[in-house]
Amino acid sequence: MEKTLLIIKPDAVRKNLTGNILKQVMDAGFKIIGMKMLWLNKEQGGKFYEIHKGKDFYNWLVDFISSGPVVVACLKADSAPARLREVVGATDPKKAAPNTVRNLYGTSVGENVVHASAPDENPQREIDFFFKAGDLHEY
Ligand code: CDP
Ligand code: MG
Repeated sequence: MEKTLLIIKPDAVRKNLTGNILKQVMDAGFKIIGMKMLWLNKEQGGKFYEIHKGKDFYNWLVDFISSGPVVVACLKADSAPARLREVVGATDPKKAAPNTVRNLYGTSVGENVVHASAPDENPQREIDFFFKAGDLHEY
């Protein structure tokens, strides 16, 4: 079993989509082993997304991710990072496969309702960004 990080972004929290998204993810076989709501400030948002520093969408992205509360969840499943990316769909909701989370709820390439760790971009670093060992529960 592997772990990955899901963030329900401010657009989705504002639209009350948290429950729908969590149900879709859990129905796909993921177990939630840690979860909380928090409101990132710009410094925290900038640090989380530092891999994108210098890209034309970086400043917008930092403003967006800190524009309201997010729900962060640590999820566990076989091949969790790769499988969650499949459930979530492509970055641009218009290109996301039918019935993926972003296809169903995303409104633009930026406001695409969720973040899911990329398998090749150190999911553990993203989990550690939000959760201490004692915040995660095996059951
Ligand atoms: O989130 P994902 O890994 O699918 O995409 P990314 O390329 O790592 O970009 C991170 C986030 O930046 C995306 O989820 C979008 O919210 C935002 N983004 C954007 O606003 N405009 C782009 N052209 C690309 C990404
Ligand atoms: Mg990414």
